[in-house]
Amino acid sequence: MRKLMQDAARRALAYLDGLPERGVAPSPQAVAGLSSLDESLPDGPSAPEAVLQLLDETCSPATIAMAGPRFFGFVIGGSLPVTLAANWLAGAWDQNTAYYNATPATAMLEQVALRWLVDLFGLPQGSGGAFVTGATMSNFCGLAAARHAVLARAGWNVEADGLIGAPPVTVVVGAEAHPSLIKSLGMLGLGRNRVVRVPVDDQGRMRAEALPALDGPTIVCAQAGNVNTGAFDPLEAIAARTRPAGAWLHVDGAFGMWAAAVPSLAGLARGMASADSWGTDAHKWLNVPYDSGLAFVRDPDALRAAMAITAEYLPTESPYRNPSDFTPELSRRARGVEVWAALRTLGRQGIVDLVERNCRHARRFAEGFRAAGHRVLNDVVLNQVLVSFGVPEVTNRVIADLQADGTCWCGGTVWQGQTAMRISVSSWSTSDADVERSLEVMLRLADGAGTDPRKR
Ligand SMILES: Cc1ncc(COP(=O)(O)O)c(C=O)c1O
Repeated sequence: MRKLMQDAARRALAYLDGLPERGVAPSPQAVAGLSSLDESLPDGPSAPEAVLQLLDETCSPATIAMAGPRFFGFVIGGSLPVTLAANWLAGAWDQNTAYYNATPATAMLEQVALRWLVDLFGLPQGSGGAFVTGATMSNFCGLAAARHAVLARAGWNVEADGLIGAPPVTVVVGAEAHPSLIKSLGMLGLGRNRVVRVPVDDQGRMRAEALPALDGPTIVCAQAGNVNTGAFDPLEAIAARTRPAGAWLHVDGAFGMWAAAVPSLAGLARGMASADSWGTDAHKWLNVPYDSGLAFVRDPDALRAAMAITAEYLPTESPYRNPSDFTPELSRRARGVEVWAALRTLGRQGIVDLVERNCRHARRFAEGFRAAGHRVLNDVVLNQVLVSFGVPEVTNRVIADLQADGTCWCGGTVWQGQTAMRISVSSWSTSDADVERSLEVMLRLADGAGTDPRKR
């Protein structure tokens, strides 16, 4: 056991050491090498050392360097060293964190981390929460609590009786709600297509004045951090409409929610605390290992009503918080351990520094593009940058060339009809030098793609 674990640690450290200088995308040869895994299930056992060696030698080179400093695709944080170390330790503990009585240490860590997070985000004291896999599931949890509450107010017990025959629930979203939020609504039986879509402005923000009249059981889903632009819906104005109508306000803050912890950005999130539920990710801006999402609900009883189960053999009576009363899963790993370790290590100021640094890097990218004559499509208010290098074919060619070059990695998008390269700066390990090095390559490739603005 000891030798195997030491070998795993040695291999993992060699992988991490190589991250800053290896190509961000895996080589085509490394990816092609994965086909060697496609073998029949062995009849007999293999030496664990040999299995680990196979895993490392075949798969490590075929990974994309998401954990490294120059991965700017999607919205991806790295893993702060302490969170990876805590993850290894918690893996050894192997605690099925459903009940306090059975797993007091990990349940306590989640309870404390939850209290810290409620405080950090300025949410109402006493809000409940859940540690889940990601924002898709944290939105699912918030919306499950919403579904419970709005139907309970209409005299319907949705957990007991389902949705067939229930009073209709109106669900309102912004036209640029994240597709995973729409998926969560589908999983809850609220329908992907039944939603009322509110028009957005030129940054993708919901136009509060365009909200429909709110009446009856209603859930309004706002967004803190548009996945393309980083823009925030006007939460204060939206809450001013939902509160008097008794509608439930849910905020999808997958990455933008962290702005609420940063005084210089808190203006973006003004009104966020007036909502009823919130979903965010820890694997994005808190930089903990995958997978890790966080749900918060102002009224913990609404979340508990949606998620708790009871059975004879399960210990439900406890003066402490039982994690499984608030999560879709019964058995689950102790996700809160890494969240606690990140918060305990960074402290309030460390989180402010991390978020502000990534936002500064995003502004530097935008400034570099503009100086070279390229069009930045969004107001860079957070960590997201959208840049066009000309007609869609040219922008797509720059993205493909950049991914092949390997210095850094960005993806593409079509946003409000415009093709763009997306840059998301979300990793603790990205330095000023990484940004300059990446920018230089981006501009060189854009020039090479025939997009020199003087030649356009
Ligand atoms: C605004 C928003 N909501 C939800 C999600 C889904 O998050 P996850 O992939 O962690 O489930 C994302 C992912 O980028 C997002 O940006």
